[in-house]
Amino acid sequence: MRELASLALRHDGRTLRILDQTLLPDEEVWLEAGEPEVMIRHIRRLAVRGAPLIGVAAALSLACLAEAGAAGAALKRAAAGLRAARPTAVNLMWAMDRMTAVLEAGGALAAEAEAIFDEDVALCEAMGRHGLTLFGPGEAVLTHCNSGGLATAGIGTALGVIRRGFEAGLVRHVFVDETRPLLQGARLTAWELARQGIPHTLITDSMAAILLRDGRVQRVLVGADRVARNGDFANKVGTYGLAVQARHHGVPFHPVAPWSTVDLQCPDGAAIPIEQRDPAEVRGYGACRWAAGTTPAYNPAFDVTPVELVTSLLLDRGVVTREALEAGYF
Ligand code: MRU
Repeated sequence: MRELASLALRHDGRTLRILDQTLLPDEEVWLEAGEPEVMIRHIRRLAVRGAPLIGVAAALSLACLAEAGAAGAALKRAAAGLRAARPTAVNLMWAMDRMTAVLEAGGALAAEAEAIFDEDVALCEAMGRHGLTLFGPGEAVLTHCNSGGLATAGIGTALGVIRRGFEAGLVRHVFVDETRPLLQGARLTAWELARQGIPHTLITDSMAAILLRDGRVQRVLVGADRVARNGDFANKVGTYGLAVQARHHGVPFHPVAPWSTVDLQCPDGAAIPIEQRDPAEVRGYGACRWAAGTTPAYNPAFDVTPVELVTSLLLDRGVVTREALEAGYF
């Protein structure tokens, strides 16, 4: 396989490594992840995360196994295991189905994994270009979770659009939801924005409504883990509440996603499988626990935002209005 490098993934021609996102922003530790069994563990514990990136990472680890000389049956088993590592982000299934089809056709898995990586970079750039048509001059925007270079092989989805908007002088400030319970906004998005020199302010998720009410946010942009055929979409838990608040205060709300996140087999949001995670993640973080270890807790990792709350969906092929989605765009 050729050398590949993104913010959170590296292949030096011999070894595949991921940046352990559970340790950010304090430590930058790169872990070997060439073996699918190891990659599955990294995906499950969110050391590598974000819908497009887990698809790319899974494809690369399968390609590593093929390069190590594994037989077809072992590769198929590994592809099935990787495909099931997390249930909501459809990019993972999309990448594994692509790799399995190439395997069955006797094609080269390394070339296909490289193509998936390259395509993701290009899709991010395309979203970034189209996104520029959304902004007026000097906007403050709000985002949830992390949809940047740590969630993709490229500049990101929603955060990539925000980055290009800042570079074009259209975005002047970013409000970052901390994103309970695993703090992808506080730990990851704030880290990326600081590296890029983009002015930003961290807020707790419960503060967004005040900013929206006070006219301090002109636009909300978020990523997506799966877009259903009717335009409903799943994203990090908290996105739905944010969409309700944005609608209440008349602030435009845009999910941003590449076509690898669109699931044409999925009729609507009710059919999207939602990952349920360990309740312990709600009771504390790391060594710090703020609820009794026995307190019952609910921990869906994602929620579904209905298309009626979407102003427009930004795809790599352009901006699709709510009206077009509701009229059956897909
Ligand atoms: O559980 P995570 O951190 O993988 O969740 C990630 C998100 O919800 C992102 O917003 C989503 O993957 C789209 S970003 C490219």
